[in-house]
Amino acid sequence: MRVGIIGGGLMGREAASAFGRWFVLEDSPVRAELVAVCDLQDKLLDWFRQVPTVRLVTKDHHELLRSPDVDVVYVAVPHNLHEQIYLDVLRAGKDLLAEKPFGIDLAAARTIAAEVERTGRFVRCSSEFPFLPGAQRVMQAVQAGRLGRLLEIRSGFWHASDLDPNKPVNWKRQNRTNGEIGVMGDLGMHVVHVPFRLGWRPKRVYAQLQKIYTQRPDGRGGFAPCDTWDNAMLHTEVEVAGAEVPMRLEMKRLAPGEMNTWFLEVLGTDGGVRFSTKDPKTLWVFERAKEQIWQRIDIGYQTPFPTITGGIFEVGFPDCFLQMWAGFAAERAGALGGRFGCATPAEAVASHELFGAALRSHQDKAVVSLPPG
Ligand SMILES: NC(=O)c1ccc[n+]([C@@H]2O[C@H](COP(=O)([O-])OP(=O)(O)OC[C@H]3O[C@@H](n4cnc5c(N)ncnc54)[C@H](O)[C@@H]3O)[C@@H](O)[C@H]2O)c1
Repeated sequence: MRVGIIGGGLMGREAASAFGRWFVLEDSPVRAELVAVCDLQDKLLDWFRQVPTVRLVTKDHHELLRSPDVDVVYVAVPHNLHEQIYLDVLRAGKDLLAEKPFGIDLAAARTIAAEVERTGRFVRCSSEFPFLPGAQRVMQAVQAGRLGRLLEIRSGFWHASDLDPNKPVNWKRQNRTNGEIGVMGDLGMHVVHVPFRLGWRPKRVYAQLQKIYTQRPDGRGGFAPCDTWDNAMLHTEVEVAGAEVPMRLEMKRLAPGEMNTWFLEVLGTDGGVRFSTKDPKTLWVFERAKEQIWQRIDIGYQTPFPTITGGIFEVGFPDCFLQMWAGFAAERAGALGGRFGCATPAEAVASHELFGAALRSHQDKAVVSLPPG
């Protein structure tokens, strides 16, 4: 799988590092190699020159897309550029790992999904945290069906760095480039991927959205508008085994003390399960036995795609990002073999339907119904 990257910023370089240690995967049905990079910034292009497999470095993404050496393109650019560049990738006949939120809004996501359908290319949307062993164990516990009747589901992703009012503005903090859905565009796909995959599609939503800081330093001595939603709490209901279950989705840039805290908790009458990246090797499992017990289990390096790393070790962000790419590569090659796969275009569109409904809910202070998934 020969990969080209469009957008070599934070995530583009993370992807390069994932391909750089592809050999950590054991028995991978696919070999992956980064061959081409496009960004607008010289200093980033210079960074990629240290990657020995990179043969093409360009500021024009059309040049990258013309290269016959590129099979798959990873696009990690600001959200206002997703639609056009994703369409360009598909029309160039390349497969795509698209960064979330898969278009700046619902209309863009639908346009991209329609082009995926028309071209028949293999396309997935980035969301790596479900590939962590703890997240996998939560899913296994749910699928094993031993939780009894579900009481509630909580899925969230919290950051704290925006608590600092002196943090300069960037494209993720402005509606024009990030999208009107604000923090939901930034963190939302991470929060809905597992619930959607488990079949938990909200029937209705009541959203509480907060904008705390309305301007930030512009980095040039002045101030710039910061008009995105900082925090979003989506109170939803999903149907599980014929009963309605509350599901709360939390996306926060202002969560005191939290640094990239992704969590998922499912509680039932007979059992419960809880995982958070705050405590990355811990799985909490509840059992209603003679006594009610929360058990803390140390989980090791038990990733969906086996690696040479010993099972006693612990995982981190670069690991789950590599695992996500291993999932993309295996599924594209028809070798996923029942393992967890990346978010699909349909899931990405459904996330935008939910976030659009959340905007309406907040504006009208009303519960908004969603079509069945
Ligand atoms: N999966 C994750 O965990 C995760 C984390 C952060 C960001 N993201 C997503 O990744 C994407 C990029 O975010 P980021 O944090 O890497 O942003 P970034 O600002 O660090 O990088 C974006 C890069 O795109 C480049 N760029 C802009 N226009 C371009 C063009 N026309 N052609 C080529 N390059 C262009 C910029 O120069 C910049 O280097 C967004 O969709 C974001 O939501 C995902």
